[in-house]
Amino acid sequence: MKLFVMILIVIICLFITKYGRADFLVWQNEGFYNKDEDISGSLPSGPTKGSPFMLAMASVPESKDTGRNNIDLPKPKFKGSMSLEETIKKRRTERSFVSIALSQQQLSQILWAAQGITEERGFKRSIPSAGALYPLDIFVVVGKEGVDDVQAGVYQYQPAHHQIKCVVPGDLRKKLAEAALSQMWISRAPISIVITAEYGRTTGKYGKRGVRYIHMEVGHAGQNIFLQAESLNLGAGIVGAFADERVKDILKLPDEYVPLLIMPVGVSHS
Ligand SMILES: Cc1cc2nc3c(=O)[nH]c(=O)nc-3n(C[C@H](O)[C@H](O)[C@H](O)COP(=O)(O)O)c2cc1C
Repeated sequence: MKLFVMILIVIICLFITKYGRADFLVWQNEGFYNKDEDISGSLPSGPTKGSPFMLAMASVPESKDTGRNNIDLPKPKFKGSMSLEETIKKRRTERSFVSIALSQQQLSQILWAAQGITEERGFKRSIPSAGALYPLDIFVVVGKEGVDDVQAGVYQYQPAHHQIKCVVPGDLRKKLAEAALSQMWISRAPISIVITAEYGRTTGKYGKRGVRYIHMEVGHAGQNIFLQAESLNLGAGIVGAFADERVKDILKLPDEYVPLLIMPVGVSHS
Protein backbone atom coordinates (compact mmCIF):
# COMPACT_ATOMS: atom_id res chain seq x y z
CA MET A 1 0.00 0.00 0.00
CA LYS A 2 2.83 2.43 1.00
CA LEU A 3 4.63 1.67 -2.26
CA PHE A 4 1.43 2.32 -4.22
CA VAL A 5 0.96 5.72 -2.53
CA MET A 6 4.59 6.67 -3.22
CA ILE A 7 4.28 5.72 -6.89
CA LEU A 8 1.07 7.74 -7.09
CA ILE A 9 2.80 10.81 -5.60
CA VAL A 10 5.70 10.48 -8.08
CA ILE A 11 3.26 10.23 -11.00
CA ILE A 12 1.35 13.33 -9.82
CA CYS A 13 4.62 15.29 -9.45
CA LEU A 14 5.73 14.26 -12.96
CA PHE A 15 2.34 15.28 -14.35
CA ILE A 16 2.47 18.71 -12.70
CA THR A 17 6.00 19.35 -13.94
CA LYS A 18 5.26 18.18 -17.49
CA TYR A 19 2.14 20.29 -17.89
CA GLY A 20 3.77 23.40 -16.51
CA ARG A 21 1.60 23.95 -13.44
CA ALA A 22 4.45 23.85 -10.95
CA ASP A 23 5.46 27.45 -11.65
CA PHE A 24 2.14 29.01 -10.80
CA LEU A 25 1.52 26.68 -7.89
CA VAL A 26 4.69 28.13 -6.38
CA TRP A 27 3.63 31.77 -6.50
CA GLN A 28 0.06 31.02 -5.49
CA ASN A 29 1.25 29.26 -2.39
CA GLU A 30 3.89 31.73 -1.33
CA GLY A 31 1.43 34.40 -0.30
CA PHE A 32 2.27 36.93 -3.01
CA TYR A 33 -1.29 38.16 -2.80
CA ASN A 34 -3.59 39.49 -0.16
CA LYS A 35 -6.98 37.96 -0.66
CA ASP A 36 -8.88 40.67 1.18
CA GLU A 37 -7.10 43.73 -0.12
CA ASP A 38 -9.58 46.24 -1.47
CA ILE A 39 -8.10 48.00 -4.48
CA SER A 40 -11.09 49.51 -6.13
CA GLY A 41 -13.79 50.60 -3.74
CA SER A 42 -16.41 49.85 -6.37
CA LEU A 43 -16.46 46.42 -7.91
CA PRO A 44 -17.96 45.86 -11.33
CA SER A 45 -21.39 44.32 -11.44
CA GLY A 46 -21.50 40.55 -11.30
CA PRO A 47 -20.41 38.12 -8.62
CA THR A 48 -16.93 38.29 -7.18
CA LYS A 49 -16.97 35.00 -5.35
CA GLY A 50 -16.01 31.92 -7.29
CA SER A 51 -17.49 28.52 -6.66
CA PRO A 52 -15.12 25.55 -6.69
CA PHE A 53 -16.71 24.69 -10.02
CA MET A 54 -15.77 28.07 -11.47
CA LEU A 55 -12.21 27.71 -10.26
CA ALA A 56 -11.95 24.32 -11.87
CA MET A 57 -13.42 25.48 -15.16
CA ALA A 58 -10.32 27.13 -16.54
CA SER A 59 -8.40 23.88 -16.55
CA VAL A 60 -11.23 21.54 -17.50
CA PRO A 61 -10.92 20.68 -21.19
CA GLU A 62 -13.89 21.77 -23.30
CA SER A 63 -15.60 18.86 -24.97
CA LYS A 64 -15.29 19.05 -28.74
CA ASP A 65 -18.64 20.14 -30.10
CA THR A 66 -19.33 18.90 -33.59
CA GLY A 67 -22.74 20.57 -33.82
CA ARG A 68 -23.59 22.60 -36.91
CA ASN A 69 -23.26 25.81 -34.90
CA ASN A 70 -19.55 25.14 -34.50
CA ILE A 71 -16.88 26.10 -37.01
CA ASP A 72 -13.37 24.69 -36.89
CA LEU A 73 -10.96 27.53 -37.58
CA PRO A 74 -7.85 27.04 -39.74
CA LYS A 75 -4.73 26.41 -37.67
CA PRO A 76 -2.95 29.63 -36.72
CA LYS A 77 0.35 30.42 -38.46
CA PHE A 78 3.34 31.25 -36.33
CA LYS A 79 5.35 33.23 -38.88
CA GLY A 80 4.36 36.63 -40.22
CA SER A 81 5.78 39.15 -42.66
CA MET A 82 6.14 42.13 -40.28
CA SER A 83 8.64 42.41 -37.46
CA LEU A 84 7.36 42.90 -33.91
CA GLU A 85 9.09 46.28 -33.75
CA GLU A 86 7.42 47.50 -36.94
CA THR A 87 4.06 46.22 -35.71
CA ILE A 88 4.37 48.11 -32.43
CA LYS A 89 5.42 51.27 -34.27
CA LYS A 90 2.51 51.09 -36.71
CA ARG A 91 -0.27 50.25 -34.24
CA ARG A 92 -3.01 52.89 -34.07
CA THR A 93 -6.68 52.88 -33.12
CA GLU A 94 -8.46 52.44 -36.47
CA ARG A 95 -11.98 53.82 -36.84
CA SER A 96 -12.54 53.61 -40.59
CA PHE A 97 -13.01 50.32 -42.40
CA VAL A 98 -13.71 49.19 -45.97
CA SER A 99 -16.37 46.53 -46.49
CA ILE A 100 -14.06 43.66 -47.35
CA ALA A 101 -14.65 40.29 -45.68
CA LEU A 102 -11.90 38.83 -43.53
CA SER A 103 -10.68 35.33 -44.37
CA GLN A 104 -11.20 32.55 -41.84
CA GLN A 105 -7.40 32.44 -41.55
CA GLN A 106 -7.34 36.09 -40.46
CA LEU A 107 -10.12 35.47 -37.92
CA SER A 108 -8.24 32.43 -36.68
CA GLN A 109 -5.08 34.50 -36.08
CA ILE A 110 -6.94 37.27 -34.23
CA LEU A 111 -8.72 34.86 -31.87
CA TRP A 112 -5.59 32.82 -31.30
CA ALA A 113 -3.67 36.00 -30.41
CA ALA A 114 -6.43 37.03 -28.00
CA GLN A 115 -6.77 33.76 -26.09
CA GLY A 116 -5.41 30.81 -28.06
CA ILE A 117 -3.70 27.86 -26.42
CA THR A 118 0.02 28.05 -27.15
CA GLU A 119 1.24 24.72 -25.77
CA GLU A 120 1.20 21.44 -27.66
CA ARG A 121 -0.25 19.46 -24.79
CA GLY A 122 -0.85 21.96 -22.03
CA PHE A 123 -3.52 24.57 -21.42
CA LYS A 124 -1.58 27.81 -21.20
CA ARG A 125 -2.57 30.61 -23.53
CA SER A 126 -1.28 33.54 -25.58
CA ILE A 127 -1.66 35.96 -22.67
CA PRO A 128 -0.63 35.61 -19.03
CA SER A 129 -3.34 34.97 -16.45
CA ALA A 130 -3.13 35.28 -12.66
CA GLY A 131 -3.09 31.73 -11.30
CA ALA A 132 -3.68 30.52 -14.87
CA LEU A 133 -7.39 30.82 -14.11
CA TYR A 134 -8.30 32.43 -17.47
CA PRO A 135 -11.31 34.56 -16.53
CA LEU A 136 -11.73 36.06 -20.01
CA ASP A 137 -14.02 34.85 -22.78
CA ILE A 138 -13.75 36.10 -26.34
CA PHE A 139 -16.82 36.71 -28.49
CA VAL A 140 -16.85 37.84 -32.09
CA VAL A 141 -19.70 39.78 -33.64
CA VAL A 142 -19.58 38.85 -37.33
CA GLY A 143 -21.39 41.10 -39.79
CA LYS A 144 -23.13 40.10 -43.03
CA GLU A 145 -20.29 39.04 -45.35
CA GLY A 146 -17.89 39.92 -42.56
CA VAL A 147 -15.92 36.67 -42.74
CA ASP A 148 -15.69 34.30 -45.73
CA ASP A 149 -18.22 31.44 -45.40
CA VAL A 150 -19.32 32.45 -41.91
CA GLN A 151 -22.94 33.54 -41.36
CA ALA A 152 -23.57 36.82 -39.56
CA GLY A 153 -23.95 36.28 -35.82
CA VAL A 154 -22.32 36.32 -32.43
CA TYR A 155 -19.80 33.55 -31.90
CA GLN A 156 -17.95 32.43 -28.79
CA TYR A 157 -14.33 31.38 -29.17
CA GLN A 158 -13.53 27.91 -27.81
CA PRO A 159 -9.76 27.92 -27.16
CA ALA A 160 -9.40 24.19 -26.48
CA HIS A 161 -10.52 23.25 -29.97
CA HIS A 162 -9.81 26.51 -31.78
CA GLN A 163 -13.45 26.65 -32.81
CA ILE A 164 -16.12 29.30 -32.83
CA LYS A 165 -19.62 28.49 -31.68
CA CYS A 166 -22.64 30.51 -32.82
CA VAL A 167 -24.55 31.84 -29.81
CA VAL A 168 -26.81 34.43 -31.50
CA PRO A 169 -27.58 34.49 -35.24
CA GLY A 170 -27.94 37.68 -37.31
CA ASP A 171 -26.04 40.87 -38.06
CA LEU A 172 -25.93 42.71 -34.73
CA ARG A 173 -23.25 45.28 -35.58
CA LYS A 174 -25.63 48.26 -35.68
CA LYS A 175 -27.09 47.36 -32.29
CA LEU A 176 -23.59 46.94 -30.88
CA ALA A 177 -22.56 50.37 -32.21
CA GLU A 178 -25.70 51.94 -30.70
CA ALA A 179 -24.92 50.31 -27.36
CA ALA A 180 -21.46 51.89 -27.56
CA LEU A 181 -22.86 55.43 -27.19
CA SER A 182 -23.77 55.36 -30.91
CA GLN A 183 -20.17 55.21 -32.14
CA MET A 184 -21.47 54.11 -35.52
CA TRP A 185 -18.01 53.49 -37.00
CA ILE A 186 -18.15 50.20 -35.07
CA SER A 187 -20.99 48.99 -37.33
CA ARG A 188 -18.81 49.44 -40.43
CA ALA A 189 -16.13 46.98 -39.28
CA PRO A 190 -16.68 43.46 -40.66
CA ILE A 191 -16.15 42.03 -37.17
CA SER A 192 -15.92 43.21 -33.60
CA ILE A 193 -14.23 41.25 -30.87
CA VAL A 194 -15.91 41.54 -27.46
CA ILE A 195 -13.85 40.52 -24.44
CA THR A 196 -15.82 39.53 -21.34
CA ALA A 197 -14.74 38.52 -17.84
CA GLU A 198 -16.25 36.15 -15.34
CA TYR A 199 -14.82 37.78 -12.21
CA GLY A 200 -15.54 34.87 -9.89
CA ARG A 201 -12.97 32.67 -11.62
CA THR A 202 -10.20 34.94 -10.31
CA THR A 203 -11.73 36.66 -7.25
CA GLY A 204 -12.68 33.24 -5.87
CA LYS A 205 -8.96 32.72 -5.31
CA TYR A 206 -7.57 36.25 -4.94
CA GLY A 207 -10.46 38.18 -3.41
CA LYS A 208 -10.96 41.78 -4.54
CA ARG A 209 -7.40 41.99 -5.79
CA GLY A 210 -8.49 39.58 -8.51
CA VAL A 211 -10.43 42.47 -10.08
CA ARG A 212 -7.13 44.27 -10.68
CA TYR A 213 -5.63 41.13 -12.17
CA ILE A 214 -8.52 40.74 -14.62
CA HIS A 215 -8.19 44.32 -15.80
CA MET A 216 -4.51 43.72 -16.47
CA GLU A 217 -5.38 40.58 -18.41
CA VAL A 218 -7.87 42.32 -20.66
CA GLY A 219 -5.14 44.82 -21.53
CA HIS A 220 -2.85 41.96 -22.55
CA ALA A 221 -5.55 40.45 -24.75
CA GLY A 222 -6.37 43.82 -26.29
CA GLN A 223 -2.75 44.56 -27.19
CA ASN A 224 -2.33 41.09 -28.70
CA ILE A 225 -5.40 41.73 -30.90
CA PHE A 226 -4.01 45.14 -31.92
CA LEU A 227 -0.60 43.73 -32.84
CA GLN A 228 -1.92 40.65 -34.61
CA ALA A 229 -4.30 42.79 -36.69
CA GLU A 230 -1.52 45.21 -37.60
CA SER A 231 0.86 42.44 -38.63
CA LEU A 232 -1.86 41.05 -40.95
CA ASN A 233 -2.18 44.52 -42.52
CA LEU A 234 -5.58 44.93 -40.90
CA GLY A 235 -6.66 47.64 -38.50
CA ALA A 236 -8.19 47.36 -35.06
CA GLY A 237 -10.04 49.85 -32.90
CA ILE A 238 -10.66 49.83 -29.18
CA VAL A 239 -13.87 50.82 -27.40
CA GLY A 240 -14.38 51.11 -23.66
CA ALA A 241 -17.37 53.45 -23.84
CA PHE A 242 -20.52 51.31 -23.93
CA ALA A 243 -23.56 50.42 -21.86
CA ASP A 244 -22.68 47.10 -20.19
CA GLU A 245 -26.27 45.89 -19.87
CA ARG A 246 -27.08 46.61 -23.51
CA VAL A 247 -24.00 44.76 -24.73
CA LYS A 248 -24.87 41.84 -22.44
CA ASP A 249 -28.35 41.77 -23.89
CA ILE A 250 -27.16 41.87 -27.53
CA LEU A 251 -24.67 39.04 -26.98
CA LYS A 252 -27.09 37.10 -24.75
CA LEU A 253 -24.30 36.79 -22.20
CA PRO A 254 -24.73 34.69 -19.05
CA ASP A 255 -25.39 36.87 -15.97
CA GLU A 256 -21.87 36.43 -14.58
CA TYR A 257 -20.12 37.62 -17.78
CA VAL A 258 -19.16 41.29 -17.81
CA PRO A 259 -18.21 42.88 -21.15
CA LEU A 260 -14.96 44.84 -20.78
CA LEU A 261 -13.72 45.73 -24.23
CA ILE A 262 -14.97 45.93 -27.81
CA MET A 263 -12.40 45.79 -30.60
CA PRO A 264 -13.64 46.31 -34.17
CA VAL A 265 -11.27 44.74 -36.74
CA GLY A 266 -11.11 45.00 -40.52
CA VAL A 267 -9.29 46.28 -43.57
CA SER A 268 -8.64 49.92 -42.83
CA HIS A 269 -9.24 52.84 -45.19
CA SER A 270 -5.82 54.39 -44.59
C1 LIG B 1 -9.41 51.50 -22.34
C2 LIG B 1 -9.59 52.31 -23.60
C3 LIG B 1 -10.86 52.70 -24.00
C4 LIG B 1 -11.03 53.39 -25.20
N1 LIG B 1 -12.30 53.66 -25.62
C5 LIG B 1 -12.49 54.28 -26.81
C6 LIG B 1 -13.82 54.49 -27.31
O1 LIG B 1 -14.82 54.16 -26.68
N2 LIG B 1 -13.94 55.08 -28.52
C7 LIG B 1 -12.85 55.46 -29.27
O2 LIG B 1 -13.05 55.98 -30.36
N3 LIG B 1 -11.58 55.26 -28.82
C8 LIG B 1 -11.37 54.67 -27.62
N4 LIG B 1 -10.09 54.42 -27.16
C9 LIG B 1 -8.95 54.76 -28.02
C10 LIG B 1 -8.14 55.98 -27.58
O3 LIG B 1 -8.84 57.14 -27.90
C11 LIG B 1 -6.79 55.91 -28.31
O4 LIG B 1 -6.10 54.77 -27.88
C12 LIG B 1 -5.92 57.14 -28.06
O5 LIG B 1 -6.47 58.25 -28.70
C13 LIG B 1 -4.49 56.93 -28.55
O6 LIG B 1 -4.48 56.66 -29.96
P1 LIG B 1 -3.90 55.34 -30.59
O7 LIG B 1 -4.57 54.16 -29.94
O8 LIG B 1 -4.23 55.44 -32.06
O9 LIG B 1 -2.43 55.33 -30.36
C14 LIG B 1 -9.90 53.74 -25.98
C15 LIG B 1 -8.62 53.38 -25.54
C16 LIG B 1 -8.47 52.65 -24.38
C17 LIG B 1 -7.08 52.22 -23.97
